[in-house]
Amino acid sequence: MRQLLYISSAVRGAAVDMAAIVGQSIRNNRRVGVTGLLWGDGKRFLQVLEGEDAAVQTTFDRIAADPRHRGIVVLHDRTIGGREFGEWSMVSRGPLDSADAFDDRMRAVLAGASPAVRGTFEGLVAARRAA
Ligand SMILES: Cc1cc2nc3c(=O)[nH]c(=O)nc-3n(C[C@H](O)[C@H](O)[C@H](O)COP(=O)(O)O)c2cc1C
Repeated sequence: MRQLLYISSAVRGAAVDMAAIVGQSIRNNRRVGVTGLLWGDGKRFLQVLEGEDAAVQTTFDRIAADPRHRGIVVLHDRTIGGREFGEWSMVSRGPLDSADAFDDRMRAVLAGASPAVRGTFEGLVAARRAA
């Protein structure tokens, strides 16, 4: 089982339709047994992909070629004993959410993740708050 975690930036000017991305992801990922988490705030994305090696690779290759984002940096790419994010889930900040409600939701989703993955997400949240 492989876990890949990357960060990227939304392409400026391109209206990012998170619902469309999530719809595509759920449909495709389910078919190949890829699960994980996609976080987006309109400017940045952070995604965890978990599944069999080849399925994660094929999915990531497709995502990496997507013109809706750029500056993709892989933060972790490692072998795991079992899925840390049980099923596909998705957290995004809606226009009515306060930053605190959003952060709380992130933490709840991350409760099952390894300390390394959790730390990466929490660092991102802290950086966003400081910006
Ligand atoms: C930030 C981001 C995350 C994405 N995550 C996934 C994903 O997990 N799975 C997936 O199939 N497509 C994902 N996509 C979409 C793919 O890049 C691609 O558009 C899509 O897989 C094409 O699927 P389709 O041929 O079924 O329309 C993502 C796109 C972006 C910008």
